[in-house]
Amino acid sequence: MARTTAGTQWLLLVVCLAAAATAGAQPDSMGFISIDCGLPGPASSVDDTTKLPYSPDAAFTDAGASGNISAQYVTQQLGKRFLSVRSFPDGARSCYTLRPLVAGLKHLLRAEFMYGNYDGLGRPPAFDLYVGVNFWTAVNVSSPDAETAAEAVVVVPGDSLQVCLVNTGSGTPFISALELRPLKSSVYPQANATQGLVALARVNFAPTVATDVVRYPDDPYDRVWLPWLDATVWDTVSTAKRVLNVEADLFEAPSKVMQTAITPRGGNTSDRIKFSWSSWPQPRDPAPRYILVLYFSELQPLPGGSARQFYININGELWYPGGFTPSYLVTSQIYSISPMWGSDQYNVSLNATANSTLPPIINAVEVFSVIPTTNLGTDAKDVSAITAIKMKYRVQKNWMGDPCSPKTLAWDGLTCSYAISSPPRITGVNISFSGLDGDISSSFATFKAVQYLDLSHNNLTGSIPDALSQLPSLTVLDLTGNQLSGSIPPGLLKRIQDGSLNLRYGNNPNLCTANTCQTTKGKSKLAVYIAIPVALAVVIGLVVALFCLLRRKKQGSARNTVKPQNEMPDAPPQPDSEYMYSQSSLQLENRRFTYKELEMITNNFQRVLGRGGFGKVYDGFLEDGTQVAVKLRSQSSTQGVKEFLSEAQILTRIHHKNLVSMIGYCKDGQYMALVYEYMSEGTLREQIAGSGRSGRCLTWMQRLQIAHDSAQGLNYLHKSCNPPLIHRDVKATNILLNAKLEAKIADFGLSKVFNRDSDDHVSTNTFVGTPGYVDPEYQATMQPTTKSDVYSFGVVLLELVTGRQAILSVPEPTSIVHWVRRRLAWGNIDNVVDTQMRGKYDVNSVWKAVDIALKCTAHASVQRPTMTDVVVQLQECLELEEGHRHGGGTRGSFYTGSSSDPNFGYDNNTTECQSNDVSQTSTAFEMEHNFGKVSRMGRGPVAR
Ligand SMILES: *[C@@H]1O[C@H](CO)[C@@H](O)[C@H](O)[C@H]1NC(C)=O
Ligand SMILES: *[C@@H]1O[C@H](CO)[C@@H](O)[C@H](O)[C@H]1NC(C)=O
Ligand SMILES: *[C@@H]1O[C@H](CO)[C@@H](O)[C@H](O)[C@H]1NC(C)=O
Ligand SMILES: *[C@@H]1O[C@H](CO)[C@@H](O)[C@H](O)[C@H]1NC(C)=O
Ligand SMILES: *[C@@H]1O[C@H](CO)[C@@H](O)[C@H](O)[C@H]1NC(C)=O
Repeated sequence: MARTTAGTQWLLLVVCLAAAATAGAQPDSMGFISIDCGLPGPASSVDDTTKLPYSPDAAFTDAGASGNISAQYVTQQLGKRFLSVRSFPDGARSCYTLRPLVAGLKHLLRAEFMYGNYDGLGRPPAFDLYVGVNFWTAVNVSSPDAETAAEAVVVVPGDSLQVCLVNTGSGTPFISALELRPLKSSVYPQANATQGLVALARVNFAPTVATDVVRYPDDPYDRVWLPWLDATVWDTVSTAKRVLNVEADLFEAPSKVMQTAITPRGGNTSDRIKFSWSSWPQPRDPAPRYILVLYFSELQPLPGGSARQFYININGELWYPGGFTPSYLVTSQIYSISPMWGSDQYNVSLNATANSTLPPIINAVEVFSVIPTTNLGTDAKDVSAITAIKMKYRVQKNWMGDPCSPKTLAWDGLTCSYAISSPPRITGVNISFSGLDGDISSSFATFKAVQYLDLSHNNLTGSIPDALSQLPSLTVLDLTGNQLSGSIPPGLLKRIQDGSLNLRYGNNPNLCTANTCQTTKGKSKLAVYIAIPVALAVVIGLVVALFCLLRRKKQGSARNTVKPQNEMPDAPPQPDSEYMYSQSSLQLENRRFTYKELEMITNNFQRVLGRGGFGKVYDGFLEDGTQVAVKLRSQSSTQGVKEFLSEAQILTRIHHKNLVSMIGYCKDGQYMALVYEYMSEGTLREQIAGSGRSGRCLTWMQRLQIAHDSAQGLNYLHKSCNPPLIHRDVKATNILLNAKLEAKIADFGLSKVFNRDSDDHVSTNTFVGTPGYVDPEYQATMQPTTKSDVYSFGVVLLELVTGRQAILSVPEPTSIVHWVRRRLAWGNIDNVVDTQMRGKYDVNSVWKAVDIALKCTAHASVQRPTMTDVVVQLQECLELEEGHRHGGGTRGSFYTGSSSDPNFGYDNNTTECQSNDVSQTSTAFEMEHNFGKVSRMGRGPVAR
């Protein structure tokens, strides 16, 4: 029976929502967007029936390839928009962006697909369609000549809307046409910000011309009303008169649709109008929910005494309460307010009430499924920023659709944060190694939530925009490996200064940074490298010996003939070429600062890091964000000029990871300053006292590391320079620690070269040093040796072990060396070890360290080890402690002396631990009282 096929007919229509027919003019001012996908060239194609122009799609998408349907599917009736397609063989998601739209307005959106074997594969694909970040529908193109359409009524969340095709592995997504029509906000009240309507069917019953499709301009919203008449079961009712909509009509069905209707064939009041649709679960919408809208209007004046009244039933149950009577030439709708769901099939039937003299009638019907549109797109500002960046740099990635949403399709290189009720934010952008060129887009400065921005290893040029400092959340900015120029802007410097930003900028050869600012162009590198030391040499009036290089200078060098001075605009008169000798690679580090620059660097000498005889040390930041310490010679300082020169000289020439490095200097009028690398953890003294900037207590392992580092620094001074360099002021306040607690020897102001070849010992006239650290032998002879530094180092090592100062007041001033020896005589190492370590150390390791310290502080310098020995011994201490920490296997083992020096144990060496009386002459301190003989140094190491 024909009526039973009604459902089947319905389904067919669902798949074949097509377009064609009706003529009319089309204003362009309706807010319509019509896109003929894949259309080449700039010209629009005008639709024969609607007369609407369809634009080429180049302005709406930057992905995919265009193609033409195969000639065999081109027919006279086929709309022009179906002739070309755009296909997306690459990428999981490909999108069209429609704009500009008004955020919050309701729109009708329609995508159309006709395969037409455009790719010659003869395999129509299936894929998913998304409206923005929300699943819209699955598109399954059934045959090459089928015109498939998907339509949705949605509220547009932003000023643009994306329509995305998502490859589901069932062929290459393609699209023929895309249409957007603005709707009045009042229509389709079921569609709102959180739910959209996807059209399943929109039917105009019994159009006058059986194949007529009603759309624009008959329907000002350009809805596509498909014709349906089954003449075997239905009769047609129609009128030429206009059917009106009531004021504030919620659906605004066009009169043309309402002017025709069906009624059961033969006019038998006992017959019903029946149709149905099947539930269509999809993987992405397994429990579909439906909205039904029925349109009614009485089209003929009813004869007197007759009445038309009918029930509306769904699946046998009364849907509309009571009988319904349509109005004459006025549209009424019966519609779902909330969706219906849970049935496999929905059977609609209309049957006349008992009072009715006429059978039921119906003019049109719409069925929608409901889609949630609750997924939020990425924050609109973030989207515009990343979109601008994508455009500017023509980023070739999967950068299509929403940047963050859905999570599974988020853009490569982006990190997003997701919250329940607020839009995702872009928190990380990594576009490294992506061939970006041009300058750094100002759009980067609009990512208000970005924490991590990695633009490294591209070909970015120009300067770094200061606007990046306005990013409140930015913590890492990586610009490594580009072609950036200029200097680090002040705003960023400030961020680095307050510790809120980690800027990486290495490998930008033209960037003006602390070490490599090359302000003069066109010079050979050699000239620049040498010119800087020349300037230094002249400014500070280099007359002292060139330390490590002294001998080589004497031997002369062909390189002395290099005369770069003319290329230094502000260079002083040409220096004696004798002093121009330099190892260019080492000179790179040193930069000359003006006093004004120092003011800027230190923010007007705002923060004092420390102070000494020379002057104060200030915190500062270079243009590139490098934190530095600026030691400014105080005006009132009588001493200092010489120390300044000495230190500048040494640091210009020696470089070691355990010696604090000099970045530059200043000699500007009466101002003198040295600029060093910044050591964030301050002095070792502060750390030992627990008053370091972190306030932490150093572990034994850390103490050993620091000792080892310092020993290496000193060893370098002693060994790597010939003649050796003597620091002469090794002490806990001259050992600085960086953030990693790596120790570096600082303050070379008192350092002297020890020239064995010559008898003019530069230091014989003046005794220098700090009470508590001074080698008694040096004090007696006034002849400093490397062993004087070894002595001082021994004192530092004891400070590390005991946590006490070089001179204790217990109750009278006592040298730490003496104090330790006396206490060890009681036999227990715990009597001397810093209680703050709470026994968390390997006893053997501590014993060995104390042993080293006491050897270092032996009265006779010949009995002291060299710094080389000390480094080796400390290394063994470290290994012992390491073993203690990693697995208890070595916990109970005993220290039995080192392999390199089998006699380096206590039992064999007690004599050298005995101290002699030495009175300090120039200072009031007693360096080494003899507190009685220390016969045996306790029991040696113990297992705990
Ligand atoms: C499609 O057909 C048009 C018109 O004939 C032509 O200009 C265009 O190049 C064709 N496109 C492709 C991809 O073949
Ligand atoms: C949209 O309509 C649904 C169903 O009536 C309702 O539950 C939801 O709260 C509405 N959303 C908004 C934003 O009004
Ligand atoms: C109309 O149809 C419903 C549902 O099939 C049925 O319950 C009702 O009795 C019918 N009414 C008449 C008057 O036939
Ligand atoms: C049928 O007609 C009678 C008499 O006119 C009326 O009382 C009754 O309410 C009507 N029934 C319906 C369903 O309208
Ligand atoms: C980087 O940019 C410069 C200047 O535009 C150009 O000369 C160079 O070829 C580019 N290098 C790469 C690897 O793209």
